[in-house]
Amino acid sequence: MSQFAGKTAVISGGAEGIGLSIAQALGDQKMNIVIADIDEANLQKARSKLEDAGISVLTVVLDVAQEDQWQEVANQAIARFEKIHMVVNNAGVGGDTGPIEGQDQKGWQWALDVNLMGVVYGAKVMTPLIKQHGEGGWIVNVASMAGMGGVPYLGAYTATKAAVVALSESWAGELEEKGIHVSVLCPAFVQTRIHESERNRPATISI
Ligand SMILES: NC(=O)c1ccc[n+]([C@@H]2O[C@H](COP(=O)([O-])OP(=O)(O)OC[C@H]3O[C@@H](n4cnc5c(N)ncnc54)[C@H](O)[C@@H]3O)[C@@H](O)[C@H]2O)c1
Repeated sequence: MSQFAGKTAVISGGAEGIGLSIAQALGDQKMNIVIADIDEANLQKARSKLEDAGISVLTVVLDVAQEDQWQEVANQAIARFEKIHMVVNNAGVGGDTGPIEGQDQKGWQWALDVNLMGVVYGAKVMTPLIKQHGEGGWIVNVASMAGMGGVPYLGAYTATKAAVVALSESWAGELEEKGIHVSVLCPAFVQTRIHESERNRPATISI
């Protein structure tokens, strides 16, 4: 039997793109799946797709930049599946692009809030719950190849992704002795709607 079978994974940004593919792959390993995403309509479509494939799914609306919303995801996941073993911090946005002199604080804030603090909050809320049951688990952070080297005109995105690579290495050392494995995924180009991230930008940090 797979080491994942019967365990529970929480996947942020799991309503489409890379997150949904990860949810499908983990569901195929017989994990219970919690997909948490800011896009409620897509969450429902994703749930139908996964359930049609025989996967146990819970959907929760989440803005990863809001720590209290992560707590609500944890509460609902435990109410449904009892334990959490894995968090996949996948939700991300492209952020503003263009020359540095054209970039403003709000654009940087949006990228920092989602791509960096969203990962921090996901790990901060889920780690104690993984430690609690003592069965070990996994934290998987989705960074990017852009976090391994600079990309012109993508300063905010590359900075947040480099930070996610760095903090993943820190957490790997910190959590190893607790049986929690931390990895960082750095994809290159994947055909998704990441280039249309503006659709997920909150009105409060619009230009
Ligand atoms: N597509 C690529 O080429 C590529 C390459 C490297 C890394 N990545 C990373 O992969 C991850 C997934 O991106 P994707 O390509 O699947 O993009 P995508 O735009 O297709 O999917 C992103 C998902 O995250 C959700 N989301 C956005 N903001 C959110 C928020 N504040 N709270 C909760 N959910 C939110 C969206 O609704 C969407 O479901 C991102 O972290 C991205 O940076 C993508």
